Amino acid sequence: MEFNIALLKGDGIGPEIVDSAVAVLNKIGGKYSHKFNFSEYLMGGCAYDKTGNPLPQETVDGCLASDSVLLGAVGGPKWDTLPGHLRPEKALLGIRAALGLYTNLRPAKLYPALKEACPLREEVAAKGFDLLMIRELTGGIYFGERGRRDGKNGLEAYDTECYSEMEVERIARVAFNSARLRNKNVISIDKANVLESSRLWREVVHRVAAEYPDVACTDMLVDNAAMQLIKNPQQFDVVVTSNMFGDILSDESSQITGSIGMLASASLGDGKRGLYEPIHGSAPDIAGKGIANPIATVLSAAMMLRFSFGLEKEADDMENAVNRVLNDGFRTADIVGTSRVTPLSTAQMTEKILENL
Ligand code: IPM
Ligand code: MG
Repeated sequence: MEFNIALLKGDGIGPEIVDSAVAVLNKIGGKYSHKFNFSEYLMGGCAYDKTGNPLPQETVDGCLASDSVLLGAVGGPKWDTLPGHLRPEKALLGIRAALGLYTNLRPAKLYPALKEACPLREEVAAKGFDLLMIRELTGGIYFGERGRRDGKNGLEAYDTECYSEMEVERIARVAFNSARLRNKNVISIDKANVLESSRLWREVVHRVAAEYPDVACTDMLVDNAAMQLIKNPQQFDVVVTSNMFGDILSDESSQITGSIGMLASASLGDGKRGLYEPIHGSAPDIAGKGIANPIATVLSAAMMLRFSFGLEKEADDMENAVNRVLNDGFRTADIVGTSRVTPLSTAQMTEKILENL
């Protein structure tokens, strides 16, 4: 089969890790007789530098014309002082909205080989965990009304958290359908003891839950969830939550796996096209040094094969290759932990993954 993939390499380590994933995809393509055609588009700080716009229309059009999108990372200190609408982050929100990607899947599992890099207590890490964080991606406070105004104490600023029943219902369905393919357990995270938007969230989740009697559903308040993730991450199977809570908790869940450099993500809408990106950012501190961990991007590309292209076997093959490399003891600098092995460069790690395909 033939697929057109839009590449948004972005900023910082983005280009290095996307190049690794492209090498892996090309090898997989050769092995299973698929052709992947890649087209690069500018997004983020690099797009701002070249065109004055972090998300040029040409990029949106290119993504819309593609079968799927692979993104490295955007942002960096160079662009931190730009006004909100020109910041690289705004481009990321813009592309999510333009492609209608309201579902963000962020799986976090502790690889047995990486237990020593896990910051949790030994007895907690020993039990392992494997959770799927599902974050609502095009609603809530990220997209609500915002502004500045004169308040009773002078200048004030506001951002609004707003969710419609429709938005909650469709993300809840994704969660329950995903749970059916896993351990049939959904934990919905909100702040219903304070926020009206969370109370509606909870009502709608319960309504959808009633259609899935085979899936367990529990509510958890977000502050407690932050604690439970550290105390007992095994209790989580599928987690569903709002855009903002999901942003925060997915960083926490990735950190407890030992390295944010390992975690992939998929952003999906109603069609097959998705946007796949590592959870970590552009890591400006190590950009250009050739030491970034390419695994999260390689695993994101594997998710693309699985969710957008229906290539299950090929995706398994990529994930197994990563597993073998880790089991063989190879590490990039971010996942060395206490193992004391000599870290591999980005290129060396990519080579190891290719050897295992
Ligand atoms: C993420 C990031 C983005 C977000 C930023 C860069 C806009 O933190 O994908 O988690 O908050 O969604
Ligand atoms: Mg984030």
